[in-house]
Parts: sequence; structure tokens; C-alpha cells
Amino acid sequence: MAEQQKLPNHIAIILDGNGRWAKRRGMPRSYGHIVGTDVLEKMCNTIADMGVRYLTVYAFSTENWKRAEEEVRTLMNLFRKYLVRIEKSAHKRHMRVRIIGDKAGLPQDIQDRIAVLEDVTRAYDRMDFQIALNYGGRDEIARAVNSLVADARAGKLPEGPVTEEMIAERLDTGGIPDPDLMIRTGGEKRISNFLLWQLAYTEFYFTDVAWPDFDRAELDRAIDYYNHRDRRFGNAK
Ligand code: IPE
Ligand code: IPE
Ligand code: MG
Repeated sequence: MAEQQKLPNHIAIILDGNGRWAKRRGMPRSYGHIVGTDVLEKMCNTIADMGVRYLTVYAFSTENWKRAEEEVRTLMNLFRKYLVRIEKSAHKRHMRVRIIGDKAGLPQDIQDRIAVLEDVTRAYDRMDFQIALNYGGRDEIARAVNSLVADARAGKLPEGPVTEEMIAERLDTGGIPDPDLMIRTGGEKRISNFLLWQLAYTEFYFTDVAWPDFDRAELDRAIDYYNHRDRRFGNAK
């Protein structure tokens, strides 16, 4: 990577391709998720150490419950362990960890663990790490709209129309700037219900590299790609 590369302030990643990666090796899909979790831990540390301010990763969608029971169970067990394991690295790197998504739909013990992790990292301000669990962009927008409706019914909303800002601040990402760069591994070129509102002007980097093979070199390629984009936000050039 050339010297004066500009780091994206906020990187979002769709961690995809674990299952196919494992199948290609004659292994069960779960093996891909196990290796994928280790890669997530490593890459999160790498990205934090590079000085990126915000990182958001898509780990489990509202649609992923439709998968085989055994795969869902494996994933939940991996989240259980991961949410304990990352606490040390969060303290070391002064990283504030938050879970975005419908937390109420997760198993109770995972909700409890999330509450502890969010609480003990709340005051950190070197990096913000969001993990999307039981997350769907449409679900997130619907929950924000419902919270507006509830406040309106209680007479707690100001007069006048609902603004974009009022919606944005009620999303799970309220207060977090929109992603500058979105990376999707695993070869698919779609957003699969990830950050529908927040990705409005984000640059997209799609790679065939499966998540378990993702590494610093591939991250550098994504950042290099980002540096060659001409971001306009609707402006004329
Ligand atoms: C991403 O890998 C991890 C999750 C969605 C939980 P996949 O499990 O989607 O792997 P592929 O896309 O089927 O290879
Ligand atoms: C998106 O990947 C969700 C996560 C990475 C958590 P999927 O593998 O579930 O998405 P589709 O099915 O390819 O759209
Ligand atoms: Mg997939």
C-alpha cells in the first residue's frame, strides 16, 4: 500500500463465505464459522491497531434463523464464547463494543453477556466496534419507526414532520457516522439487508476471497480501492 493512503473513518464488513470455504475443504459448514470467528478476532485487532475509528461487522442476520438448527446452534455457541473472549482485547485497545440488531430476539444468556460487554466498554473512545447480531436493515428501520410512533402517541414528539435526523438517531447506529467503505467477502454482490439506511453513500468493495481467508493484504487492497474512488455525495465534479 502506498504511503499517504487515507484510512476510512468507518469500515463495515459483511463476513461471508464461511460455509462454502469449509465445504471446499470437505469439512462441515460449522468449521468455516469456527475459523471465521478467529479471523474476526484477528482482523478486528488489526483494524483497531491501524487507527480506524469505527468498525461494524455483520455476523448474523434476521434471516439466518432459517438455516439448519444445528448450524444456528453452532453459531450461537460461537457468539457465546466470542463475546467473552473479546473483552480483553477491548480493554487493551480502549474499544467500545456495541451489538446492533434486535437483541431481544437472542437467547437470554447472550443478551446478558452483551449487557455486561457493552457496560464495561461504554467509556472507551479510541475505537467503536459494532457487531450486528440478529440484525436486519428493514427490521432496524421498522423498530425506529415504531419508537417514533410510540413517542408521538405519548405526545413526546415536537410539532412538524419527522426528519431524516430523527429517524437516523433512533436506528441502532444512532450517533455513529455512516460507513465510508463496505467490504463483502465470499463473492456475492448484494447487501443482504445490511445497514440499508447507513450505506446510502458508502463505497462498496466486493471480493471473492472467503471470510476465513481474509487477511491484512486483502484489507489493504480494499483500502487502496477506497482511495481511488471519487466520492461525490451528489455534488457535481
Ligand atoms: C457467513 O458465511 C457467516 C454467516 C452468515 C453467519 P456463510 O455461512 O453465509 O457462508 P456461505 O456464504 O454459505 O459460504
Ligand atoms: C449475510 O450473509 C449475513 C451475514 C453475513 C451475517 P448471508 O450469507 O446470510 O446472505 P445471503 O443469503 O447470501 O444473501
Ligand atoms: Mg453466505
